[in-house]
Amino acid sequence: MADMPFKSEEDLRSCVQRYYQEAILNAATVCCCEDGKQGQASSQCDCYAPEQLNNLPAELLTSSCCCGDPLKRAELRPGETVLDLGCGTGLDVLLAAQRVLPGGHVYGLDMNEAALERAEHYRRLLGLENVQLLKGLMEEVPLPSESIDLIISNCAINLVPDKERVLREAYRLLKAGGRLSLADMVLEGELPVRLREEPRAWAACLAGAISLATYRELLASVGFHDIVTEPVSANWSWPSFISEEERHLLEGHWLAILIRARKPSA
Ligand SMILES: C[S@@+](CC[C@H](N)C(=O)[O-])C[C@H]1O[C@@H](n2cnc3c(N)ncnc32)[C@H](O)[C@@H]1O
Repeated sequence: MADMPFKSEEDLRSCVQRYYQEAILNAATVCCCEDGKQGQASSQCDCYAPEQLNNLPAELLTSSCCCGDPLKRAELRPGETVLDLGCGTGLDVLLAAQRVLPGGHVYGLDMNEAALERAEHYRRLLGLENVQLLKGLMEEVPLPSESIDLIISNCAINLVPDKERVLREAYRLLKAGGRLSLADMVLEGELPVRLREEPRAWAACLAGAISLATYRELLASVGFHDIVTEPVSANWSWPSFISEEERHLLEGHWLAILIRARKPSA
């Protein structure tokens, strides 16, 4: 935990847990997509095409902490099996579950029990039977190897200190030829010292973010091919603990991206 304001991984996880607990209770007032306006958080930050969200509960949108739409170019097909790493309250899980019908199945994994309870509540509201929510860590997913067609994740991998371990786990879980489609934050350049020492900067998807070049290198080192990236045009407001001065330093350096990659076919 050198260079981090945490004593241990446990300490880091409980900080992240508290942060998103607040997001769930206070309708996305702490998230990447924060704008504090009921029912508009997800569409406001351009994460999703508005028509995709029409039939979803407003509360699900405000409790979502997205930074992009990982399903946008994921070429999801009926019958496929999908896993969402760090699924939060389940927006992408439920969107994917509708698209893989008939015959497909979606797993949503998160370490936060309260988030999973919310996701389960929305799953029932939408009457989707092809969803299974799993409590666990994305570093160690309780699913068999080569069982998944598409792994998605939205604004969550940056929160894990050992990103290589998460990407190795994703590689293990994918079938040969399986796809990875991530939305995540990247950080180009150094973080001001005050923010490096501020635990909320990690929880807010800032201090744990790596550069795009490092992300690509990690994916390639784990074995992924066909790595494609694309910027997300987003319109979110900034976490309140970041000062005006810090914001100017970070603008254009702290960015949301979509990353797609493929496990080679056997
Ligand atoms: C920024 S939120 C994004 C939630 C969701 N993907 C969305 O778009 O609304 C990050 C989520 O990742 C989860 N998370 C962070 N670290 C995790 C880990 N090591 N294993 C599993 N989940 C984790 C948090 O509990 C939180 O729900």
